[in-house]
Amino acid sequence: MENISYLVLARILHVIGVVIWIGGVAFVTTVLIPSLKKIADTHDRLELFEQLEGKFAFQAKIATLITGVSGYYMLDFLNAWDRYLHLQFWWMHLMTFIWVIFTVVLFVLEPLFLHRWFREQATKDSENAFAWLHRIHIVLLTLSMLAVLGAVAGSHGFNF
Ligand code: HEM
Repeated sequence: MENISYLVLARILHVIGVVIWIGGVAFVTTVLIPSLKKIADTHDRLELFEQLEGKFAFQAKIATLITGVSGYYMLDFLNAWDRYLHLQFWWMHLMTFIWVIFTVVLFVLEPLFLHRWFREQATKDSENAFAWLHRIHIVLLTLSMLAVLGAVAGSHGFNF
């Protein structure tokens, strides 16, 4: 009984992590980047982007950690590792794939070179750099929503 409540706690933390993180990605994709694209001064555009996205990146790092640790706990608790061997659990693969992408970008690529690289691109050709940034965010948001759809349905007994 007590163990079950740890599973419930992990599930709560998992969903809170996902809400903060993917909700933030949705805001950046559908509100922030489209608004930034409308700022005529490309220097101001980049400065504002770095300020706002930088603050969100910190939140996203914490949320990614919480989501990953709680997800790992649930997977272990449910002893559900073999799901990775079955295609019907595509949503488990997709969740994990999205987590890996964001973790590598936030913790490795961004501090190592992505931040500097984007600054260079946006200084050279701002329109192109922000159009590219927007496209990547749309792809990641779409995949994340698909993972949420599959995970909620799959966790509550829907057989794909
Ligand atoms: C390492 C990464 C992750 C692992 C190991 C993981 C693992 C899990 C596990 C084991 C469950 C419970 C499944 C069940 O009850 O049958 C779950 C549920 C869920 N996960 Fe993940 N997950 C990860 C990342 C993500 C990400 C990135 C998202 C969002 C894009 C996500 C969204 C969800 C949702 C919405 C649920 C359903 C909660 C519910 O309705 O009960 N997870 N995850």
